[in-house]
Amino acid sequence: MVSKRIFITGIAGFIGFHLALFLKKRGDFVTGCDNFNSYYDPELKRERARILREEGISFSETDICQTAFLQTALVENEITHLVHLAAQAGVRHSIKHPEPYVHSNLEGFVKVMEALRAAPKVKCVYASSSSVYGLNTKIPFSETDPTDSPANLYGATKKSNELIAHAYHHLYGIPLTGLRFFTVYGPWGRPDMAYFSFTRAILAGEKIQVYNNGKMRRDFTYIDDIIQGTVAAIDLGAASEIFNLGNNHPEDLLTLISLIEEHTKKRAKIELLPMQPGEVETTFADIAKSQKMLKFAPKTGLKEGMGKFVEWYLEERKKS
Ligand SMILES: NC(=O)c1ccc[n+]([C@@H]2O[C@H](COP(=O)([O-])OP(=O)(O)OC[C@H]3O[C@@H](n4cnc5c(N)ncnc54)[C@H](O)[C@@H]3O)[C@@H](O)[C@H]2O)c1
Repeated sequence: MVSKRIFITGIAGFIGFHLALFLKKRGDFVTGCDNFNSYYDPELKRERARILREEGISFSETDICQTAFLQTALVENEITHLVHLAAQAGVRHSIKHPEPYVHSNLEGFVKVMEALRAAPKVKCVYASSSSVYGLNTKIPFSETDPTDSPANLYGATKKSNELIAHAYHHLYGIPLTGLRFFTVYGPWGRPDMAYFSFTRAILAGEKIQVYNNGKMRRDFTYIDDIIQGTVAAIDLGAASEIFNLGNNHPEDLLTLISLIEEHTKKRAKIELLPMQPGEVETTFADIAKSQKMLKFAPKTGLKEGMGKFVEWYLEERKKS
């Protein structure tokens, strides 16, 4: 296979970091940008960045809203593929802090589309989210289901991204693939997500707050499986597609907690609370389309994946 020249936005983020390492290892040229914002501890992003540099991946500390930078970077590096991952993530945060979602997910997304418009041969894969399924109750969630009832601003911005991408493909022929990621977890993950914050709190002997009295199910998807699906989408280089990337096997939050207990050998102190605004009870990916077109085949179950996460977490804790 001819090696590709790939630009990753959000390269110091959880998924961007793993993707960059994988692509570099298989022989692609990889660069990117990240604004190192403080939504969660920027030290974790700096640590990922340090590893990327060690592996020979250089990138810029720049905001995606700087269109001129992006346009120049695409041309000067002769980029063939853009993977747009930079975004303000997090459902709960969007309830109290809408501004960064408007900046990064709406303004930023359009700026990325404008940079692509100036380089329309560059193929783009961008991160959408299972959050676009919002208040849908039919499970599993299929790409053909309607997605017009988001449950929070984050989901609404991700749905907007899919609509904006459709318009830019229609107008300018830019090849654009949206990936609806489902609750991605693993080593080097995001401290704002439940599997990470629960692990930290359980090890510290602190109480964890579990919403909807624990009656929540998530289609937890291990990072290596997400990378396999994302790389397959890059290699497919479709004209205009949307894919679910999920494990196709939702698990209860209480199962997640008991697995953390098992791997940390500590008991959780659980405080059961009512449902939070903006949350949904279940996420569950129908992956028939991704299996067919991307050969997507998630391999890592929650028990094994959380074992790897806890092992990484304990190793990192020793260093600090
Ligand atoms: N992790 C998940 O479970 C999950 C699920 C669904 C969708 N997603 C989406 O996947 C993408 C990557 O998620 P992640 O988990 O790696 O999150 P992350 O927060 O770890 O990574 C995003 C990175 O983008 C950077 N960034 C944010 N705004 C920026 C801007 N304006 N300019 C430049 N850089 C900016 C951040 O500093 C961060 O390093 C995001 O678009 C997210 O919405 C993630």
